[in-house]
Amino acid sequence: MTTVSTISTVSALDAASRAPGEAPRAAKPAGALAYQSGFGNEFATEALAGALPVGQNSPQQVPLGLYAEQLSGTAFTAPRGELRRSWLYRIRPSASHPRFRRRDDGLLRSGPFTEVETPPNRLRWDPLELPTAPTDFVDGLVTMAGNGEAASGSGLSIHVYLANRSMTDRVYFDADGELLLVPQMGGLRLATEFGRLDVEPGEIAVIPRGVRFRVELRDGTARGYVCENHGALLRLPELGAIGSNGLANPRDFLTPLAWYEDQSRPVELVQKFMGHLWTTELDRSPLDVIAWHGNLAPYKYDLAHFNTIGSVSFDHPDPSIYTVLTSPSEIRGTANVDFVVFPPRWMVAEHTFRPPWFHRNVMNEFMGLVHGSYDAKAGGFLPGGASLHNCMSGHGPDAAAHARALADPLAPHKIDHTLAFMFESRLVIRPTRFALTTPALQPDYDACWQGFPKTFTG
Ligand SMILES: [Fe+2]
Repeated sequence: MTTVSTISTVSALDAASRAPGEAPRAAKPAGALAYQSGFGNEFATEALAGALPVGQNSPQQVPLGLYAEQLSGTAFTAPRGELRRSWLYRIRPSASHPRFRRRDDGLLRSGPFTEVETPPNRLRWDPLELPTAPTDFVDGLVTMAGNGEAASGSGLSIHVYLANRSMTDRVYFDADGELLLVPQMGGLRLATEFGRLDVEPGEIAVIPRGVRFRVELRDGTARGYVCENHGALLRLPELGAIGSNGLANPRDFLTPLAWYEDQSRPVELVQKFMGHLWTTELDRSPLDVIAWHGNLAPYKYDLAHFNTIGSVSFDHPDPSIYTVLTSPSEIRGTANVDFVVFPPRWMVAEHTFRPPWFHRNVMNEFMGLVHGSYDAKAGGFLPGGASLHNCMSGHGPDAAAHARALADPLAPHKIDHTLAFMFESRLVIRPTRFALTTPALQPDYDACWQGFPKTFTG
């Protein structure tokens, strides 16, 4: 059997080894996982030499006695540039499982988000408290808001995860969408069918729809945000006049090398399907893929690599300039969801109001904060917290930030030690009942826009 060499290009970076905002370094810490690099590449990787068939996907006899299985992320007939699928070579086919039974959803909710009326108010939440009872990633999912619904293949659901223990004999997958994880506190090891990813606050990970995975905590506790994308797969935005480089560069996205468990033991397999959790029990670990090839796979990205672009003359570009990944809708230029970051950056614009301007947008904005503070708000928007500004709600700097910005000398200034982000969607983002009743909801958010003096001189 001819062997296929494993791609083992490694980004030599580990966000855990440096301070927030610190420039990337080139040394790989001992014990760090190796990855394949590039966004949506045709990867090929095998944990055992000779496991990948050569020249075909489904030979009569698969090498090493494995089962061949295709996982598709787009319709078979999608345009070639958008087509995403992978071939997995595994110890047992994923079809081999008992019937799924309904399981308690906990605080997980799904579209249509009609549980409560959607208020037009601007909303902001304190960070949700970590649980005291033993809680893993699946048990600790709390849905804050969403739109669309999984069944129609559009919209998104926004969750927070709160965990204080690793998943051990449990594996999860989401049939309703791909998962964009934004860790805020605590590192995660994501053990997936495609291999393992270590993700720290400051990095993101994307797990495609249907991919089985287990979340292990690297720091004892973990909190973060999840964007469950029910629409078209996330991809890099077009660059237009920016040119062929910039924003998130494709080579900085990292995908796991093949890795597997050959374990016969009871494992609970939980899936989210049509908004609800279902469970079944396997007699083995489903993370048993010895080799795989294709362009549909989990990936991670260190947001410190984001090549932030801004004004070097005057005025702000629109914040679309901060888009890391986008899920387009059928309306050209109008996203089902954009993932946007506000990383450390220099402010140099002359004769310009430097914080974000006041605005009312047709798009809908859910913001989170990984660390630091956000330049449009002097306080109240805390790491691990969130805010929601829906269609046509006026927002922008609070009165304190506005007053300070009017008086600040316009010397070059670095906004540092901060990482805010936004899930932006064309559809109104509708909070859940939990989100509207939790004590974490700040009752006085509107007050931050009180106290603007009348300065009109006409
Ligand atoms: Fe906004």
